[in-house]
Amino acid sequence: MLRRLYHEQPERFAFTPANLEWAQTIIAKYPEGRQASAVIPLLWRAQEQEGWVTRPAIEEIARMLGMAYIRVLEVATFYFMFQLQPVGSVANIQICGTTTCMVCGSGSLIEVCKQRIAPHPHQLSPDGKFSWEEVECLGSCSNAPMAQIGKDYYEDLTAESFGAILDALARGEVPRPGPQNGRFASEPLGGNIQPAGERAEAANASVALALALGDTVARITGEPILARAAAAAPAAAPKPAPAPAAALAEVEPARPAGLGAPREGGADDLKRIKGVGPKLEAVLHGLGYYHFDQIAAWTPAEVAWVDANLEGFHGRVTRDDWVDQARILAGGGSTEFSERVDRGEVYDE
Ligand code: FES
Repeated sequence: MLRRLYHEQPERFAFTPANLEWAQTIIAKYPEGRQASAVIPLLWRAQEQEGWVTRPAIEEIARMLGMAYIRVLEVATFYFMFQLQPVGSVANIQICGTTTCMVCGSGSLIEVCKQRIAPHPHQLSPDGKFSWEEVECLGSCSNAPMAQIGKDYYEDLTAESFGAILDALARGEVPRPGPQNGRFASEPLGGNIQPAGERAEAANASVALALALGDTVARITGEPILARAAAAAPAAAPKPAPAPAAALAEVEPARPAGLGAPREGGADDLKRIKGVGPKLEAVLHGLGYYHFDQIAAWTPAEVAWVDANLEGFHGRVTRDDWVDQARILAGGGSTEFSERVDRGEVYDE
């Protein structure tokens, strides 16, 4: 497929102040003379901000990194994940068309795209709100057919449920992501294999976090996600109506109190919590969390805040249930994972 820049380009590009600050921290990670290594993250953030990669963005990034324009153009045109033409102002719909999804009916989803958005991929709908494309396997094969819309996965789709999602997006709503056929996650279609009553939540961790953030199709401006979501809440992120929301979705995220420094005796080894490596431990310290009992005391609202503010690790607190682990460790107990750490069987990344 020939990939070239779109025939109409904006006059200029600039990162938002917050994105610029973020970009500078990324560039600073690399040794002097190796700034070109930041080209993909910067192109990606430009796309997250604007929806697509424009020629002025490529030029600006080349300038920021001291690269020849052609080198940045080569990267942008090589990777299919970079959109080189305008995408829908609301969403670019990415339909998985690989084997499992194809066998399970992705063709009917593509047909909906052709009928309702545009006859061909990478074309804008007449109102400019949507575009679509077929993509390779997105790793959600057990919930085929599926689509990625913005930052979230919509799974177990049919032409009808997919059409309803498009309707909701067109109304400015953020539809509930995850399985659309009543499944919790990827358990057998014939029914849940967990004993009845063992699982209280109404949404799996990914869906619960997505509902809490409500930023599925929001552009990335660099502002803290929760602040943006709260500001947009009345119009852009109404609560999904029909399904009962998970505990996380019901709470207003709140920052847990932190400490200026570890207590006397030093910080606990937070790496004994499954899911916390050296990088995340440093992030937690930076936020003022040094001890198991601090994490054990986090409320659902505080979990939601921390989950959303772990740059690059969103959702880890929920995914690995840090609060439960921390409760055990704070009480002097051990978990299967902490025992492996204590035996030296877990190596720092
Ligand atoms: S084949 Fe569609 S997600 Fe894997």
